[in-house]
Amino acid sequence: MDKLLLIDDEADVQYSFRRIFDSPEIELTTATSGEEGLRIIPKLKPNLVIMDIRMGGINGLETLRRLRQLDAKLPVIMMTAYGTTQTAIEAMKLGAYDYLLKPFDVPKLKQIVFDALKAARAMKQVVSYQPLLESEDYDLGIVGRCEQMQNVFKLIGQLSASDATALITGESGTGKELVARAIYSHSQRAGQAFLAINCAAIPENLLESELFGHERGAFTGATNQRIGKFEQCNHGTIFLDEIGDMTLATQTKILRVLQSGTFERVGGNQPIKVDVRVIAATNKPLEAAVATKEFREDLFYRLNVVRIAMPPLRDRREDVRLLVNYFLKKFAQEQGQSPKSISQDVLSLLEGYHWPGNVRELENVMRRALVVTKGDAILPSDLPPELTTPRNQAASTASHSGDSNSVARLENADVATLAKALFHRARLDSKLKVIPAVERELVIQALIETQGNQVQAAKLLGITRATLRKRVEKFGIRQGLAIQ
Ligand SMILES: Nc1ncnc2c1ncn2[C@@H]1O[C@H](COP(=O)(O)OP(=O)(O)OP(=O)(O)O)[C@@H](O)[C@H]1O
Ligand SMILES: [Mg+2]
Repeated sequence: MDKLLLIDDEADVQYSFRRIFDSPEIELTTATSGEEGLRIIPKLKPNLVIMDIRMGGINGLETLRRLRQLDAKLPVIMMTAYGTTQTAIEAMKLGAYDYLLKPFDVPKLKQIVFDALKAARAMKQVVSYQPLLESEDYDLGIVGRCEQMQNVFKLIGQLSASDATALITGESGTGKELVARAIYSHSQRAGQAFLAINCAAIPENLLESELFGHERGAFTGATNQRIGKFEQCNHGTIFLDEIGDMTLATQTKILRVLQSGTFERVGGNQPIKVDVRVIAATNKPLEAAVATKEFREDLFYRLNVVRIAMPPLRDRREDVRLLVNYFLKKFAQEQGQSPKSISQDVLSLLEGYHWPGNVRELENVMRRALVVTKGDAILPSDLPPELTTPRNQAASTASHSGDSNSVARLENADVATLAKALFHRARLDSKLKVIPAVERELVIQALIETQGNQVQAAKLLGITRATLRKRVEKFGIRQGLAIQ
């Protein structure tokens, strides 16, 4: 449950907040003055403070200044009436998370509160990168035992001790943000703010102003001065996600901040100095963008000093089992239930899948399975269809290693491509006998698809049930897979 503290001396604002945030996930506490708010905070430990600027007693800005001495990270949203946005700017300089204009728009208020709570969680939760499988505490961890992940952990450790810039690369869902948060939560800056900005989610022409702020009149629509994330996050850590999606002009400014710690607001000419640690991530190959001059080479080298390359899940199949157990335990803990079990068939399907969405996709598959499963164990029928469709099972020997009948998994439904791939494999592996290998795989997949129903599997394969039985025997396919 998230604790929200509202500091406002107006009874009707308190009343509307009670109505708007009447939810079991949110516990709302109210204080009618800055003094009272400051008194409550150490004991209440709220996740978010929403505070009016104009109040009797000490005003909102002074309260914020004192609050920052108590807690540098607690997100605070300031509220102000129209016409006093200048004060709101002051509040941002003092490290407010955002500000709202009164009278406020309820959906917007909810959105800002939701975002701030998310940012608060990101700052609070320590992401562990130590092996945590034996531990009882499944808080938030990076799971992985394969060599590539061990190297990732070493780099996180090294980076935590320094203030160096880091570039995290990898496909979508491989854990880039998780790694950025682990670096932050183990660094000397863990007591300061952490702000994540997804450069791809912000329109190109607004990103520069989002990051660096702008002066009034800097461009059409810039009716007020605005404080950017770099200024707001002074002494903290900024996570620039999808950094490949930045214009060259913004890249130039980023390079300058990295080199000298200074920048100017858009439309401004006064240099502003900040001390911010930058962690960047991208799922695009930046080298290619450098080659086509879409990404500045000097910025690339500046970022690439320490590079953490996240391996795709399909390249670390041995970790699938660990991740599955981790998610089963994590979700069970969330629901206050005991973890469900998983059959070997399901695990084989999970290990054989090519995971285009990587760990995030696996996490979603596990969540879905827990919702649809009827018993105590997750079955193949609880998995989404893409996992049980043969063409999505990637070529893999890892999941069959140790099996003398080891065969290649088929990657593509297109027969010609498939045949080419098989012959390529056959040239690499003299043990591979193409036709029996294909036949065996077809039988296994038909049985998986039909959940072991031999009549249906035979029909799917276009052979008789007797022939199917012979194949099952010949290839030593496990009985569990071939129930009647
Ligand atoms: N090694 C891991 N152990 C446990 N959970 C993981 C691991 N890697 C990723 N996750 C989980 O998978 C999800 C996706 O991770 P994250 O958001 O860090 O990926 P990303 O690389 O930033 O993806 P995108 O490029 O799409 O933004 C998150 O819920 C994260 O907690
Ligand atoms: Mg991400």
